Amino acid sequence: MATDFTEETAADAVVESFAGTQDPRLRELLSSLVRHLHAFVRETEPTIAEWERAIDFLTATGQKCDDERQEFILLSDVLGISMLVETINNRTGGGTEATVLGPFHMVKSPRRELGDTIDLVGTGTPCVVRGQVLSADGTPLPGAELDVWQANDQGFYDVQQPDLQPRANGRGLFTAGQDGSFWFRTVVPSYYPIPTDGPVGTLLDAAERHPYRPAHIHFIVTAPGYRALTTHIFVAGSQYIESDAVFAVKKSLIKEFTRVDDPAQAAEYGLTGSFCIANFDIVLQPAAES
Ligand code: BEZ
Ligand code: FE
Repeated sequence: MATDFTEETAADAVVESFAGTQDPRLRELLSSLVRHLHAFVRETEPTIAEWERAIDFLTATGQKCDDERQEFILLSDVLGISMLVETINNRTGGGTEATVLGPFHMVKSPRRELGDTIDLVGTGTPCVVRGQVLSADGTPLPGAELDVWQANDQGFYDVQQPDLQPRANGRGLFTAGQDGSFWFRTVVPSYYPIPTDGPVGTLLDAAERHPYRPAHIHFIVTAPGYRALTTHIFVAGSQYIESDAVFAVKKSLIKEFTRVDDPAQAAEYGLTGSFCIANFDIVLQPAAES
């Protein structure tokens, strides 16, 4: 242990204080964290007032958290860290790319039959989403489960408008058919803002950053023997597709929601009038050997 604190030796002294940590991974994480934090402070030389402001910000972030609100995850999201961790842990090897879970997967979605609608309200542009769940070599995965949730055409999840939207509006749990195929009906979702009534909103304001996410539909896809996939599809051409507040857009997940004006095609999907259709084939990766 150093007996004399100096700017030059501080990081080494603190790293050394963790040298007895038995778990080697924890020791590695702590050492690296200390080195990066010390480097940040040496580089930016915060004033005492600035450091107190930073502590106040983190305190307020913690105080904003409860069973339903996780402001630290939101902070990780707007800093791009959630997406970085997600991407590092889901290097694809040919599978469909993953993206963030987000805070609105609160309740297990109600089970629905293939072809059912998840839109329980009937406003907005009707839309069909269809595809096939496959393994990387193209083998269909019959019985794969797809948990789906989305905001409505006004940009609100059901849980944000409990008095306006029926419970479980925009949510469904589907089982793929014998050939791994699935389809469901819904409405084209809208872009929407992430919650801004907490410290993360204050941060975005100070940075003059907008809080919006481009229109998307969330999926968690599972099949026995395969890694669970948490992802979205993004509506091609949606506002904010180039500047998602949480950096979650992957090019491969942007899908055309093609407008169809043909009554015969609408009838095939149990619809009348014009609608949009999006195709999303999903490739799962084998589960890691245990
Ligand atoms: C969402 O897509 O639901 C979401 C993701 C990250 C932060 C806020 C919302
Ligand atoms: Fe979302």
